[in-house]
Amino acid sequence: MLKGKKIVVGITGSIAAYKIPFLVRLLIRQGAEVRVIMTPAAVDFVTPLTLSTLSMHPVVVDPFKAQSGEWNNHVDLGQWADVMVFAPVTANTLGKMAHGIADNFVVTAYLSAKCPVFIAPAMDLDMYGHPSTQHNISTLQSYGNIIIEPQVGELASGLSGPGRLEEPEKILLILERFFTSRQSLNKKKILVTAGPTHEKIDPVRFLGNYSTGKMGFTLAFEAASRGAEVTLITGPTFLNASHAGIRRVDVESADEMYEACMAEAPKNDIIIMAAAVADFKSKKKSAVKIKKTAAHVTLELEPTRDILLEIGRQKRKNQVLVGFALETDNELENARQKLHRKNLDFIILNSLRDKGAGFGLETNKITMIDKAGNVQHGNVKTKQEIASDILDIISETQICSHGKQ
Ligand code: CTP
Repeated sequence: MLKGKKIVVGITGSIAAYKIPFLVRLLIRQGAEVRVIMTPAAVDFVTPLTLSTLSMHPVVVDPFKAQSGEWNNHVDLGQWADVMVFAPVTANTLGKMAHGIADNFVVTAYLSAKCPVFIAPAMDLDMYGHPSTQHNISTLQSYGNIIIEPQVGELASGLSGPGRLEEPEKILLILERFFTSRQSLNKKKILVTAGPTHEKIDPVRFLGNYSTGKMGFTLAFEAASRGAEVTLITGPTFLNASHAGIRRVDVESADEMYEACMAEAPKNDIIIMAAAVADFKSKKKSAVKIKKTAAHVTLELEPTRDILLEIGRQKRKNQVLVGFALETDNELENARQKLHRKNLDFIILNSLRDKGAGFGLETNKITMIDKAGNVQHGNVKTKQEIASDILDIISETQICSHGKQ
């Protein structure tokens, strides 16, 4: 699976750096092309000579070799790589990556990456548990990086807990799985919607909802990482869609999202409607700010058009349509009814009664129901893991439909 894959391995100054020669050896054995880059602190733990011997290429620590006038270009490395794997990553480097501090070659290469990035933190358990470390990890995840969670176990300090670098064999497996799943959606055209919609009341007010867009953005990033050509239609959000495979279309209201979706949907193989589209909009929009002089203001609402229902009506036979259902009660039955009413292939059910599910969280808990009635219950997972699970299941239908052709 890794034959010919171009992999940058970035090492930072943690004792777990001693495991990376094994990782490089495993990658080379699988036929990958590997370039190793190191921070100056990493050199204290493992030598560049070991790594250049194993990777069969020079190792870059310092971008400038002033005496020889040589300069190593981190941008070239960013263009070259199919994936970058940073392991081990210290709390210090996590902070730099999360905040764009580019004071060494490893972080500049990270900032230049045009490919999926894997980050494997390793540190002592208290450093790992510190809110600033956790916050940096969440930030890096929100940028679309894939975190290879540290393992729980014995640490170099003698303490025991979370913080151990994932084993090289397991990192290899994660990369192999990544490339396998990536091929499943290669060149597929996927439309993803995300975020809330804002329904104008007057020039300064709107009706909205708590959606942040995180689930839709994560799905878009994961699909693009698997080789899909993604169109992401999003309502107002502060998130960035940082992947070359994503074309972003920004909309504000349910009406704008409807128009954008109707124009894009016929061009796509797979459509995933993760947006929390407003169900109602204000019947009248005031051209001027509504003053608070009146004792009561009554807003008359009218329903918005149901985009998913309309796409379901126009769906071609070989298109896969996926909807979301956010329910508070009678969840399974409501979701099943929505699946049939909207002519969906899958519906992803979120229950607001579940701990770890809901708006603005890093985690989610879903139940996936297909049109044949099969139900798959999931656990509380990160949105990245959930996006991966959803796309794994959709990919299976793609592989099956290829088989039938
Ligand atoms: N949806 C849509 N257009 C709308 C409202 C919802 O496309 N105007 C899509 C959402 O993106 C989601 C699915 O429909 O994929 C379910 O949304 P939800 O609000 O849970 O369901 P509704 O069908 O609106 O039913 P209800 O609000 O009565 O539960």
